[in-house]
Amino acid sequence: MNISGNTIFVPGSTSGIGLALALALHAKGNTVIVGGRRAELLEQIAAEHPGIDTVQIDTADPASIEAAAKQVLDRHPDLNVLIAMAGVMRVEDWHAPASFLASAESTVTTNVLGPIRLLAAFIEHLQAQPDATVMTVSSGLAFAPLKVTPSYNASKAAIHMLSETLRLQLADTSVKIVELEPPAVRTALMPGHEDNEAAMPLDEFIAEVMDLIETRPDAREIQVERVKFLRYGEARGDYEQVVAALNAGDPHGK
Ligand SMILES: NC(=O)c1ccc[n+]([C@@H]2O[C@H](COP(=O)([O-])OP(=O)(O)OC[C@H]3O[C@@H](n4cnc5c(N)ncnc54)[C@H](OP(=O)(O)O)[C@@H]3O)[C@@H](O)[C@H]2O)c1
Repeated sequence: MNISGNTIFVPGSTSGIGLALALALHAKGNTVIVGGRRAELLEQIAAEHPGIDTVQIDTADPASIEAAAKQVLDRHPDLNVLIAMAGVMRVEDWHAPASFLASAESTVTTNVLGPIRLLAAFIEHLQAQPDATVMTVSSGLAFAPLKVTPSYNASKAAIHMLSETLRLQLADTSVKIVELEPPAVRTALMPGHEDNEAAMPLDEFIAEVMDLIETRPDAREIQVERVKFLRYGEARGDYEQVVAALNAGDPHGK
């Protein structure tokens, strides 16, 4: 994906990685549409950043995805990049179903069905563009499991394999599939995560991601250095040590 000159919709960018990436891409000369559920944040973002458009969307709701897609494409017929950023992460204790089942189901709805439905809503339009990109968002946890978040890890592994497969199937189109694989990054994804010293500072993560997009526009996976500890444990042959370190609070193998 080129670093500038795109029209980009980022459902899941009212906060955290999505918002920071949306602002960085806007600053680089892209037209950016920020999406999310929280109307007050959408209003605030539009007021603080002239030129950024906003669209309310709940990616857990198929009707909301359809309505938002129509709004986005009516207002931005040259849209050529979709970044499926929206995601949730919840702790689950699988010893007793009452404590995990609702959480597991809603995690899969948002993290897996959300991107699938978003892709379905935009893929025909994107194929008609001369140069288009779908950026999926998985996680280092797609490649090594954090014990306390089983459904989240599974949802991100699903996104990895969805991305790998769609890349094969859409190889005969103008649409590139790029998978962003964040390591632990300081955001509000989980309570206390913003102050988690073991996680990567958000500004450092975004700077490295923007540098990778700029210097490696044809990359299939966007991997900052810190995610490689989790991403390549199995290939390196130290998977067991990676899983042990991750679950002892060391997500980057320091
Ligand atoms: N931070 C990390 O350590 C980390 C690591 C690996 C991967 N990731 C992934 O990065 C992505 C962004 O997470 P983040 O860390 O930036 O956390 P965050 O600050 O909590 O951001 C999550 C974003 O997703 C949106 N969202 C959640 N559910 C939604 C829904 N049903 N419909 C529309 N938007 C929804 C939220 O907006 P609204 O609440 O306004 O809807 C928010 O903008 C997620 O996919 C996450 O899994 C994060």
